[in-house]
Amino acid sequence: MSVAGVLGTGSALPEKVISNADLEKLVETSDQWITERTGIRERRQAAPNETTSTLSAQASRRALERAGIKPTDLDLIICSTISPDMPLPSTASLIQRELGAHGCCAFDLAAACSGFLFGMTVAEQFIRNGASKYVLVIGAELLSRYLDYSDRTTCVIFGDGVAAAVFGPVDPPSGILAHELHTEGQYAEHLFIPAGGTALPASCQTVQQGAHFIKMRGNELFKVAVRSLEDVSRQVMKKAGVTAEDLDLFIPHQANQRITEAIRERLGVCSEKVYSNICRIGNTSSASIPICLDECVQSGRLKRGNLVLMSAFGAGVTWGAVLMRW
Ligand code: COA
Repeated sequence: MSVAGVLGTGSALPEKVISNADLEKLVETSDQWITERTGIRERRQAAPNETTSTLSAQASRRALERAGIKPTDLDLIICSTISPDMPLPSTASLIQRELGAHGCCAFDLAAACSGFLFGMTVAEQFIRNGASKYVLVIGAELLSRYLDYSDRTTCVIFGDGVAAAVFGPVDPPSGILAHELHTEGQYAEHLFIPAGGTALPASCQTVQQGAHFIKMRGNELFKVAVRSLEDVSRQVMKKAGVTAEDLDLFIPHQANQRITEAIRERLGVCSEKVYSNICRIGNTSSASIPICLDECVQSGRLKRGNLVLMSAFGAGVTWGAVLMRW
């Protein structure tokens, strides 16, 4: 049985920055409201010629180079996304082609903002049981393509971004120590895109109604998010026999700075151990945790031997946590 760990990380952000002042020109909102209620000051928006797969390929090349792994060494590519290039084929197939990673298996995984942790957990199973040696997991979202820029309850929150990590066998004590994943479908309509699937196929009417845009019940989600993130973080620490005091770094999904602060307080983690980039990046759904991870690795914030907890929550609703020794 092999222990799975991260061999290299990489990210790719679109250049275009959308500030709160830019959004003030589109909807009835203010920099003060957005900053105070969410912690977000700016987010990125992909250019028309950028897609989920093209940005994913950029992030993946960086991760592969840092891991010292060739694309053809990969056994599996998992792309976590709810904003694929197109319904068919999978974005993972397009990434595989772009990377020239011939011969490996590739598929998409849809668990919204928890998706990278779901993907990591799948990768860990493949590596641990020996079915795969090197697995590329990507968290990729171009949510701007699904945003209604006349809906102030959603367009201020979400942003575009991609990050990737190469997983492979590592020597203990490094590696993934524990994971915990959950889904509760009864809250499916708290955050959803009504049209474009089999329930409501795309038509002139769905376009006129804006039914292919993201709809969110922010208030309801807020309460479920805080409760679930606290529970799952505790579960995973208990599984590994560690406490909040043992953590070196806590990377929560970047949904809202007030959610981060509420969980930090409930878990009793000191502020210096919590990573946050929401003010610069916004909520990038499944890309949120891997972007943070890559920033922490590149800046030296995350060092070998550190104990890092990652917890996420998203549409579905889904939630999960992964604890790893770097
Ligand atoms: N600018 C100004 N006012 C806004 C606004 C905006 N962008 N968005 C909403 N408002 C208004 C509302 O219309 C409401 O006005 P009213 O009192 O006159 O009806 C008021 O602000 C309060 O709205 P509410 O929804 O209660 O605000 P909130 O404090 O809950 O903040 C969210 C809204 C979306 C920021 C917050 O609920 C949240 O972050 N929820 C979690 C969302 C999330 O995590 N989603 C992704 C899951 S991964």
